[in-house]
Formats: sequence, C-alpha cells, structure tokens
Amino acid sequence: MAVDFRVNGRPVRVDVPGSTRLLWVLREHLKLTGTKYGCGAAQCGACMVHIDGEPTFSCQTPVEAVRGRSVTTIEGLSQPGLHPLQRAWLAEHVPQCGYCQSGQIMNAAALLAKNPRPTRTEIIEHMSANICRCGTYQRIVRAIERAVREG
Ligand code: FES
Ligand code: FES
Repeated sequence: MAVDFRVNGRPVRVDVPGSTRLLWVLREHLKLTGTKYGCGAAQCGACMVHIDGEPTFSCQTPVEAVRGRSVTTIEGLSQPGLHPLQRAWLAEHVPQCGYCQSGQIMNAAALLAKNPRPTRTEIIEHMSANICRCGTYQRIVRAIERAVREG
C-alpha cells in the first residue's frame, strides 16, 4: 500500500502494509536512524517524533495514520543550525550513552513550542514520558531551563 506523507519538510512515499509502525518506516525505509527503538510499547519515549507538531510515539503509530500529515524527526528539528535545545544539551553535557536523547529532545521541543516558559514542575511532568536508563534527568531539566533562558 502506498502511503504519502511529509518527513522533515519533504514529501515521501512508502510502499508498505499500512499497519507497519512509523518507527520502522523511518529507520528502515527512510534511513532516518536518529529515532530509536526502545520498548516498542509506549513506555520509554525513545521513538518520539512530532506528527503535525504533536509529540508521538512512533513505535505505536501505524504508517497509514500519517497519510497526508507532517512528521518531524530529530534530523529535521533544526534547519538550519542547531536548535536552542541542542545547543543547551551540548552546554550541559546531557547525554551519557545517548540512546534516549533524540526522543528526549523531541519531547522537550514540543513542550517549548507550546509553552515557551515552563516552570520546573511543568518540565518534569512533561518529560516523564521519556525514560533514561543512564539517569540523565537532572541534566535534561537544566538543559531545558538553559534553552528557555538563552533561546
Ligand atoms: S520505543 Fe516507543 S515508547 Fe519505547
Ligand atoms: S543517555 Fe543513556 S539511556 Fe539516556
């Protein structure tokens, strides 16, 4: 089944069963490997992308659900240059193994798009959708606060 949608601003067409999860379409068909597979069960957030601006678990999203819609992955978050969150992530040395980090940044970016000046409580609450097995939570909060400050 052909499914047409947009990824990082460009139109794509994939020919796969409509139930194929968006995560695998991104990684295997479109070679956008910044989006990671963690739990496959909407529990960890490693697979998070934006669909029409909404943070979404791509491991749970059948590709037919994005027909005609707009998907943004970590590869398309900052064009051109680095997103304020990515700059803050570097300044705060957030990642350890790095595996969860693209999902973390995508979720944080969705937060700031809706709420440019979140409180610490709002940040922690919003970011609870993402698990980091390396325990970088405090640095993530600091980086988001820095991005809010420095823009
Ligand atoms: S891989 Fe999708 S939430 Fe864990
Ligand atoms: S940095 Fe290793 S899982 Fe988060």
